Amino acid sequence: MLINVFLILIILSLIFYINKKKIRKFLSRNNIKSYNIDDLDDSFVPQKKDILLCPTDNSVVNFFCIPGNFNVVGMTSDFEAWILAVFSKKSKKIFEFGTCSGKTSLILSMNSPDNAEIDTITLDEESVEKLNLDSKDNKIAKRNIISESKYKKFMFSGTVYEKKINVIFQNSQLLDINQMKNKYDLIFIDGGHTYSCIKNDTEKSLEMIKEDGIILWHDFSIGKKSHSDVFKYLNELSFKIDIRHIKNTTLCYFKNKGRDGRVV
Ligand SMILES: C[S@@+](CC[C@H](N)C(=O)[O-])C[C@H]1O[C@@H](n2cnc3c(N)ncnc32)[C@H](O)[C@@H]1O
Repeated sequence: MLINVFLILIILSLIFYINKKKIRKFLSRNNIKSYNIDDLDDSFVPQKKDILLCPTDNSVVNFFCIPGNFNVVGMTSDFEAWILAVFSKKSKKIFEFGTCSGKTSLILSMNSPDNAEIDTITLDEESVEKLNLDSKDNKIAKRNIISESKYKKFMFSGTVYEKKINVIFQNSQLLDINQMKNKYDLIFIDGGHTYSCIKNDTEKSLEMIKEDGIILWHDFSIGKKSHSDVFKYLNELSFKIDIRHIKNTTLCYFKNKGRDGRVV
């Protein structure tokens, strides 16, 4: 009898372990709706050629891929990188929270107008040690911050694209945004994925973004433990502002439509 109960418990734990992501997904309450990218912005609306839907000049970009064996951490998918590239074509002032390898900064620089300015903030190995994280922050997200803060040189270092890029080595929680309010056309939030960090970076971005400017968040996914603080925070925020998830990506999107769209 006791052996049977023991066996059933082992089988149940195994089923739980194998399906834990699906179970977490089922239990997560998501308030954020998903949209096709062409429903969010005209640049992505395709042109029809008979039965084919094709890109227009608005969505053709300069691009590269990084093969898996280069072992670069913290990257966007190719589809996400393309979306960022298209938005950057019409953005003169861009801010990125989280530089990491500089892959996204490089794509933003390769596609933005010649007179564009890109500010990107990151931690280095010394500053990551001084980071004051909240005890409630997700532990895997904390570990990832350390492994993603190892770069001293970036993909754009020494290239012609470097001149548009200004790297700020600082904890974003200490960033003074007084001179940055209502200045940015595009902000990409992809820094620390802990609750305290994503909250800080978002609250600052909502003050930094211009009217009609766009904020994109990376790593919004349901059921992934290392992204759980991003999921939680954005869902809370979605009751205050119109945040949309972009289908087939881990990106969330917000367009600043002025007072009504802002946090009050
Ligand atoms: C996921 S990686 C960014 C990937 C990059 N955006 C890309 O697309 O290639 C996270 C980055 O956020 C930075 N970061 C984490 N917490 C931070 C903080 N509190 N202040 C500034 N940067 C932070 C890390 O140093 C790392 O560079």
